[in-house]
Amino acid sequence: MKKIGVLISGGGTNLQALIDAEKSGIIKSGRIVCVCSNSAGAYGLTRAEKAGIPTKVIRKNADCGGDIDEFSRRICAYMKEMGVDIIVLAGFLAIFGGELLKEYADRIVNIHPSLIPSFCGEGMYGLKVHEAALDYGVKVTGATAHLVNEVVDGGKILLQKAVEIKDGDTPEILQKRVMEQAEWIILPRAVEMLCSD
Ligand code: GAR
Repeated sequence: MKKIGVLISGGGTNLQALIDAEKSGIIKSGRIVCVCSNSAGAYGLTRAEKAGIPTKVIRKNADCGGDIDEFSRRICAYMKEMGVDIIVLAGFLAIFGGELLKEYADRIVNIHPSLIPSFCGEGMYGLKVHEAALDYGVKVTGATAHLVNEVVDGGKILLQKAVEIKDGDTPEILQKRVMEQAEWIILPRAVEMLCSD
């Protein structure tokens, strides 16, 4: 049984999908042992607490003086302290580097709300991704679960799922559809894939 550590920044609906997937048996080769947020106000922390999962807040500016290496070191230390084998970025909107990537190489999975290589890379996160897809005028978008390496959104793709764009979509409407029809489905499956090797 692999120990899963989840990193979040906000609402935590993908975290909720992971918690539910563990309960329903979609994730059967791992269990979530901790949730770490880079924002103290993230609602995902409340979701974790309700599920009885230990939480921690590590903020890049307030706790690490804005130093990205220190930020990565602190997250890495917490993951190791909790015995984490697999890290899931479930709506984690900060960039980290160095130690964490080295220590957990090929053991970090991210969910991105587009079909990579479209609408991804540095600065492309959250609603911005859906705004870009609508601005471009594509008719199909989706989500990608991928391994994390030093290239932002550049690691090996594990799973993708396409979602239709409809006339009159706003970024908010599209974000919700992509979450419901793609992210919440493929992220738990990708996590199970990684946990079961
Ligand atoms: C999700 O749509 C996720 O794919 C996206 O942020 C949202 C977080 O929602 N992540 C990225 O854009 C990463 N580049 P959540 O907190 O409700 O899971």
